[in-house]
Amino acid sequence: MKLVLATHNKYKAKELQTFFTGLPFEVMTLEDMPDSIELREDGYTFNDNALQKARIVHQTTNLTVLADDSGLEVFYLNGRPGVFSARYSGAGATDESNNIKLLEEMRGVPPRRRRAQFRSVLAIVSDGMEKLTEGICSGFLGEQPRGTNGFGYDPLFIPDGFSRTYAELTAQEKNKISHRSRSFDAMRKMLEQGFLNG
Ligand code: IMP
Repeated sequence: MKLVLATHNKYKAKELQTFFTGLPFEVMTLEDMPDSIELREDGYTFNDNALQKARIVHQTTNLTVLADDSGLEVFYLNGRPGVFSARYSGAGATDESNNIKLLEEMRGVPPRRRRAQFRSVLAIVSDGMEKLTEGICSGFLGEQPRGTNGFGYDPLFIPDGFSRTYAELTAQEKNKISHRSRSFDAMRKMLEQGFLNG
């Protein structure tokens, strides 16, 4: 069965594609689609955004679509950057400018108050059917960027049980524990229970 990943983020697409290994889906990305599809992310929750992205691509392609909305929630900042993770430092935000802004806001905050978590919500939309799953990875924020793997806030986030940041883990290590792999595990279980067969 054909399935489209509704993301323009090449790192996310790669992580999600890895998770589909061995599953009976022909996984496509938006780059495989004939026309470019604009994805809006103006909801107030990860659920709203993930569903919105999956719905628009389903309406356009008529295929089964999987979308992820995800972000970093810092407890000291009452959950920010949250749904604003990608554009935290404003118009023209880059991963680097977002990391600089976050580090600036957390400057001087002691280790015990640097708790944070990544959250991923996955939405799958098929003919007449919609479903959401969620995954969380807990940890804390380092005081300076470390590591060059991955993307986004990876250089700042140290998952529980590790002394290295996400960006210092290999892709395989990150994929075993990440928020996205956890939401995908829940999604896989649902797919195995025949969600798409009605
Ligand atoms: P969106 O889901 O495309 O709106 O973007 C999510 C944003 O959250 C990304 O641009 C990153 O800033 C951040 N993010 C989500 N997942 C990860 C991750 O696995 N590592 C680092 N940053 C992430």
